[in-house]
Amino acid sequence: MGFFTGIYLMFNLCMLLSTKTTLSKSFMGKEGLVEIPSKFFKLAKRAEVFEWMVNIRRAIHENPELGFEEFETSKIIRNELDKLDIPYKYPIAVTGVVGYIGTGKPPFVAIRADMDALAIQEAVEWEHKSKIPGKMHACGHDAHVAMLLGAAKILQEHHADLEGTVMLIFQPAEEGGGGAKKMLDVGILENVDAIFGLHASTRYPLGTVATRSGPILAGSGFFEASIAGKGGHAALPQNTVDPILAASNIIVSLQHLVSREADPLDSQVVTVAKFQGGGAFNVIPDSVTIGGTFRAFAKEIFAQLKQRIEEVITMQASVQRCNATVNFNTISHPFYPVTVNDKNLHEHFLIVAANMLGGKNIKEMQPLMGTEDFSFFAESIPGYFYYVGMLNETQEQLEPNHSPYFKVNEEVLPYGAALHASLAVTYLLEHHSQVTTQKQSSHDEL
Ligand SMILES: *[C@@H]1O[C@H](CO)[C@@H](O)[C@H](O)[C@H]1NC(C)=O
Ligand SMILES: *[C@@H]1O[C@H](CO)[C@@H](O)[C@H](O)[C@H]1NC(C)=O
Repeated sequence: MGFFTGIYLMFNLCMLLSTKTTLSKSFMGKEGLVEIPSKFFKLAKRAEVFEWMVNIRRAIHENPELGFEEFETSKIIRNELDKLDIPYKYPIAVTGVVGYIGTGKPPFVAIRADMDALAIQEAVEWEHKSKIPGKMHACGHDAHVAMLLGAAKILQEHHADLEGTVMLIFQPAEEGGGGAKKMLDVGILENVDAIFGLHASTRYPLGTVATRSGPILAGSGFFEASIAGKGGHAALPQNTVDPILAASNIIVSLQHLVSREADPLDSQVVTVAKFQGGGAFNVIPDSVTIGGTFRAFAKEIFAQLKQRIEEVITMQASVQRCNATVNFNTISHPFYPVTVNDKNLHEHFLIVAANMLGGKNIKEMQPLMGTEDFSFFAESIPGYFYYVGMLNETQEQLEPNHSPYFKVNEEVLPYGAALHASLAVTYLLEHHSQVTTQKQSSHDEL
């Protein structure tokens, strides 16, 4: 089941068609806006475009680069933008690239791809396996880059018809480094009206998309605590202050934050994933380090969890006569905000995706406890994030992302490229009239 009834869809399409045809006259003739998604999908599926995207994706897959080290990936992107005659800014946030297609004037709409790989050894044996030991595109960012370039190609073919400017955002360091935040900090989204981002998904069938309005991914933070006691002989505990026992009690107490203090109907997570201390069977160590992550869907709840984690660790440590310090490592791992899908962009997405894929192929998903640093963008301007299915049920099952066995079904590339391009173009067509009646703003980055 999709989100909405056929009647509602028809209503929206009619509204769109009747009010926007004048704006879209220059755009591929009378059929107007409604035809754009399926037309772009056909363009994205052309054999030469498909093969070109596949080759880009494979080249990036062979040479995975971690966050803020995406120099070769960025070079591939810039080479392709050069060939397409698309101007861009580089470097932004170390390796980031921002391309511009259209009038160079408002409205501005952004579409975004992430570029970084993971520190995982690829276990898939295939012709284009990662050539870098211990690094792998196990989250599909190679495909995301290829899709955004695919969108760029289609958009550039129609650049004269764009009613505003599409910004192509290739960002570094999505996997924990906060590359989006670094790009925001240098002002790339100033005067930008909306931003769209996507993720290829092994959970949903090819030809479907999954999304929801409002919070879709959790806000997240990391914590690390050092628990100091006094080491000594394991057979003489009375002469020691045992940090292993203190850390164990801390971990148990941390579990009570979600089970006893949180509203059972409000999803939260506190996980201790790291426990380091001691190295011998008969020695009590001086100190123990623990660390983990916490997740929530509301800012206040997130702040409260952070405070309680700190209190529980330091106070529970003192119960066992230990001293604890808690570090949230926000320099290397900034807190990721909740990813919230804008309500109006959700309506826009439903219309575009239904035109391309059919309403029944839009799945409403539950929020996930995972995170995305797209949330930084979506916190600063209206943003929209969605999943593009790549599971072909007649073929093998796909391992989830972050697995060393992760594979991308390359058939997904035209779907992502066409969705990116369609969402951006139709957004501009719909918002062009509003901007021209307002004070004209310019984009400082141009
Ligand atoms: C904890 O800190 C206090 C105050 O600095 C100090 O006196 C005590 O020795 C420390 N205890 C441990 C186990 O490190
Ligand atoms: C799934 O794979 C089969 C066999 O490779 C292919 O014939 C079919 O077209 C694919 N389905 C989609 C939706 O692309």
